[in-house]
Amino acid sequence: MGFQYHSIISGMGKYLPDRVVTNDDLSKMFDTNDEWITERTGIKERRWVKYGEEYTSTMGTEAARRAIEDAQLEADDIDFVVFATLTPDYPFPGCGVMVQKNLGLRNVGALDVRNQCAGFIYALSIADQFIKTGMYKNILVVGAETQSNVMQKTNEGRDMAVIFGDGAAAAVVSATEDLNRGILTSNMHSEGAYAEELALQEPSNRHEFRIEGNPELTGAKQWPYMNGRNVFKHAVTRMPESVMEALGETNLKTDDIDLLIPHQANLRIAEFVKQKLGLNDDQVFNNIQKYGNTTAASIPIALCEAKEKGLVKQGDLVCLTAFGSGFVWGATLIRW
Ligand code: UT7
Repeated sequence: MGFQYHSIISGMGKYLPDRVVTNDDLSKMFDTNDEWITERTGIKERRWVKYGEEYTSTMGTEAARRAIEDAQLEADDIDFVVFATLTPDYPFPGCGVMVQKNLGLRNVGALDVRNQCAGFIYALSIADQFIKTGMYKNILVVGAETQSNVMQKTNEGRDMAVIFGDGAAAAVVSATEDLNRGILTSNMHSEGAYAEELALQEPSNRHEFRIEGNPELTGAKQWPYMNGRNVFKHAVTRMPESVMEALGETNLKTDDIDLLIPHQANLRIAEFVKQKLGLNDDQVFNNIQKYGNTTAASIPIALCEAKEKGLVKQGDLVCLTAFGSGFVWGATLIRW
């Protein structure tokens, strides 16, 4: 399509809480051990917020501040905010408006995206549309999560409690007239038939009373539920599928990918994705070992870290792909 602009990522920043929680720390809270967690997920440690001091909005704000600085821009240059999270500070309003306030942005639009682990892929694609049409020049895209206080830290909740972590990262998405660079294509998908396979249902708006008088509130549904095996099965199919779709759209091949950043769900899932696509180790970046699964924040945290390590250079073909609760999934191809 004949667009005048392409979207490049002109700056990135990340924020991880200082508090490191190792597998051994978790084994003191419930029946688990480093060997089980490492073998099944590859995770060695994750970060948890300091409760009452760090929130999804504050982590997202700090990551955004760093991204704006990295892009060598000022707060006033930001035209729009897209904030992806499944753990906003409040049921409403979303965290985007808090970034607007905390950074003293102009009264620009602020949109929250509710697409779980694929949140950043969706958010990036939304930003890309506004840039391509020429409506905005610089858009802040944030992914941030506080999972540690949502998990049930007991034997009942241990399958999820060992996986998820807290953190944030942000990207400034900017317009360029160089149509050989930037986001080449992206795709987004969903299959709502599996909505309850990975979900936090309470406090639900389906009852007459959400809190007081809600019989479900103190039951199992106050905690997130995950059918781990089914999520795993779909994740290892859908991510390679969406990567192939993106390559097909752009007439590129898996060999052309310089760096694939899969959503950091589970190192075994990332391994399967790599194998299915026939990629080698150097073509895939993972950092779940240090941060666990930070849902909407996982891809930008990994992309930011890869960039800091010098693994993403101008001209590289970078591919992002994610799968998560919804089910939702998708992929993005970027010529850096
Ligand atoms: O971001 C997208 C969201 N999520 C994902 O991508 C996660 C996808 N799923 C997974 O990563 C895996 O299914 C898990 C890592 C969650 C679980 O691995 P699994 O190989 O599917 O294990 P399982 O749930 O089938 O459980 C195997 C055993 C069970 O014991 P029995 O019944 O065999 O005696 C569990 O009770 O492991 C037990 N178990 C644990 N043991 C120690 C479950 N969680 C733990 C734990 N520590 N944390």
